[in-house]
Order: sequence, then structure tokens, then C-alpha cells
Amino acid sequence: MNILILGSGGREHALAWKMAASPLTDRLYCAPGNAGIAQEAECAALELDDHKAVIAFAKDKKIDLVVVGPEVPLCKGIVDDLEDAGIKAFGPTKWAARLEGSKGFTKDLCKANKIPTAAYERFKGVSAAKDYVRKKGAPIVVKADGLAAGKGVVVAETVQEAEAAIDMMFSGGLGTPAWEIVIEDCLIGEEASFFALCDGETAIALASAQDHKRVGDGDKGPNTGGMGAYSPAPIMTADMNQRVMNEIIHPTVRALKRSGAPYKGVLFAGLMITKEGPQLIEYNVRFGDPECQVLMLRMMSDLVPALLAARDGQLKNFDLRWYPDAALTVVMAAKGYPGTYNKGSVIEGLDAAAQVEGVKIFHAGTRADGARILANGGRVLNVCARGKTVREAQNRAYAAVDLIRWPDGFCRRDIGWRAIERER
Ligand code: AMP
Ligand code: GLY
Repeated sequence: MNILILGSGGREHALAWKMAASPLTDRLYCAPGNAGIAQEAECAALELDDHKAVIAFAKDKKIDLVVVGPEVPLCKGIVDDLEDAGIKAFGPTKWAARLEGSKGFTKDLCKANKIPTAAYERFKGVSAAKDYVRKKGAPIVVKADGLAAGKGVVVAETVQEAEAAIDMMFSGGLGTPAWEIVIEDCLIGEEASFFALCDGETAIALASAQDHKRVGDGDKGPNTGGMGAYSPAPIMTADMNQRVMNEIIHPTVRALKRSGAPYKGVLFAGLMITKEGPQLIEYNVRFGDPECQVLMLRMMSDLVPALLAARDGQLKNFDLRWYPDAALTVVMAAKGYPGTYNKGSVIEGLDAAAQVEGVKIFHAGTRADGARILANGGRVLNVCARGKTVREAQNRAYAAVDLIRWPDGFCRRDIGWRAIERER
């Protein structure tokens, strides 16, 4: 089969690495890709917004399956357009991708189907939103509807903070003024991520993970796209996984099928594990980045037939195998991230780092300049490792990090701390 991956991050490098190893893969392409992906796939400089160009490329290269990494093209309907052009594509349609694209849509779906999630209201104007916040009190969570690259959520500790967030979102503080916001109760518990593969009717569990969203050690400082992750999440016992499937994932897949927008693709549930059980914080309609990287290290089965089965509606009798090992990834980012940072600094020592036992390095924002690897983004490298325990995976990942010579980069030194504390 000829496969085209869309995207350019560490997630897409991990997918490319896993699919390149499949005996089913003949030619592997990635658009636009990065310097690491170029070692696994032929990279093509396509503009993902230009669906016609993507379709033309797929036809020209006789692509049998397109795998879409990020949420933006999914929410813009790239799967619909590819399928309409007769090209198989893995991922949800535009209509089903509202699970990530619209918080109001997802909250209403949860309410209608008794899927556990924080109590909420939707608002289109400032004054009603502020009245609600004053009535409910703090802490309270304010969310802008629509994709906001992880910046659309404010967990307000005080009513004043919540009011400021409402003003900020409606006045365009996130770029464009929010047309709607969701205000919901603050959930207390431990967060975990859960991934399932869906074919429109059947969902099968993939694995769980936990990520570190804050930029600094001790989970301090501003939010980022994710500074590290590990899998499995120790809080996600077999029993908890089953509850998430029964109480959250299956009802969602059934509801979307009934609504005429069946969900195919990866369903990524952001969860709060509370005293009463799992609650849905949010859905994403794709693999997480960097969670995908650790999932791919743990997946024993071939990914290609799994994605095909999801696309073809054939997951019913499908089974995936996983290594029992833990996997962990440390994100190396350019100094200044998630604020402003420079591009173009040279990264050395990658070959030696990749030799550390159990280690695999995925590239996120990199570009090749001859034989040199240059930083080309905020999150630049994912230094991943497998181990018998999270502790062992962490030791291996940091041993590799310490062999990478990149003065313009930084990383957190405590990825996995929560899991490691539990292991003790
Ligand atoms: P989201 O973009 O929806 O994942 O939200 C970003 C982060 O905000 C989540 O990972 C949680 O840490 C936090 N968060 C969102 N909603 C809630 C909630 N209802 N209760 C507590 N924390 C929340
Ligand atoms: N790491 C969180 C995400 O991919 O949304």
C-alpha cells in the first residue's frame, strides 16, 4: 500500500516510524513532514489547507490511505474531501470532528446521553455569562468554543478571574472574538488521557497516558502543547479503562452514529478521574502529541491494518497487542517556548543519544540543512524510551537527553514524577 501522512510534528514522526515498519507499506509519504520524518518517508511540501493539492498529490502517487494527524484539517473537512474524491482517509469527517471543534456540541451530546462531564451552561454574551459565574462562585472553568490550540481554557480560582476570562474571550483575546463560551464546574481529581479507535460503530481501547502541560518542573508556569508524557497512566487500571469505555466512549460512538455523523478515527478523551469515577473534560479527534509517541512505542501490533479496519468499518473482530512496558517521552523545546523563541540553532549528538538502550527519538520542529539538523519550531524533539517501569524509561530518556548538544534548547527534568511516586 501507498500511504500519505498529513502533519509535521512528533506525532506524525511516530506514526511514520510505526507505519514504515509495516510489511503492508510500500511507499510512505508525509506532507509537509520534518527532518526526522524524512528518514522514514518521502516528504512533500503541501499546504494542508489546500485540499485540492492534497487530492492531486494523492492521486498522482496512487495513495491507498491518507492518515490525518492534526485537528485543524480534520475540522476543515479534509477527510470528507478526500473520500469524495475516492481516496480512503483515516480520521473523522468534519461533522464528527465537532467533538473537538465545538465544546458546546460535545457538552450537549454528553448531557443528552448521560455521559459523565462537569455541569455547564453555554453563553453568547458577556452579561449572562458573568451573572452565571457570580451565582456559581469559584473555582469555575471558562472555555471558548472552537479550536484554540490549547489556549481556550481558563480555570479561574476567583469570580474576578472568571469575569476577566469572559471579557478576554468575547473581546478577541484569543485572536478572534469567541462567538460562544462554555462555563463549567471545576472537577477535582487526577487527569488522564484515554485513546480509542473507532470505525463508526465499534470502538476498541488503545491505551492510556498522562501528559505534562506546564512548561516548568513541578507542573508550574504557563500551559504548553505538552512537555512530556508517559503510558500507561497508573491511575487507569483495567477496571477504570472498562468504565471509560462503557460510560464515555461507547455512548459517544452510539450517539454520533444515531445522529448521522458516525465517528471514525482516534477518539482522545481528556479525563478527570474523580472520587465518583471518570468524567470527560474534553474530546480530541486525533492522537495526542506527544501522547502518540509513547503509544506507538508500546504498540506491538501493526498499525496499518488497524487504521484501515477503522476506516473500513471492520473493527468488530479486531484485536491489538501492546508491550507491557512503560514508555515515556521528554519534549525538548527551544528556549523561550511557549513564548517567543528563535529558529535555526544547530542540534548535535542525536546519533549517540539514539544508541541509549530502549530509546527512540522523534522529531517535532526540525529541518535538515545538509547533514545538520536545525531547530525549526517551539517543541523540537521528543526523546522517548521504553522501560520495565516508568522510572526505568525516565532514566533512559534523560540519559539520551544528556547526550544531545543543543544550547538553545531546554526540557523539564521531572517528566513522569507522578507515576514514579506511585511506583515507589
Ligand atoms: P482542555 O483544553 O479542555 O483540555 O482544558 C485544558 C486543561 O484545563 C485541562 O487539561 C484541565 O487541566 C483543565 N480543565 C478543563 N476543564 C476542567 C474542569 N471542568 N475542571 C478542572 N479542570 C479543567
Ligand atoms: N498533548 C495534548 C494534545 O495533543 O492535545
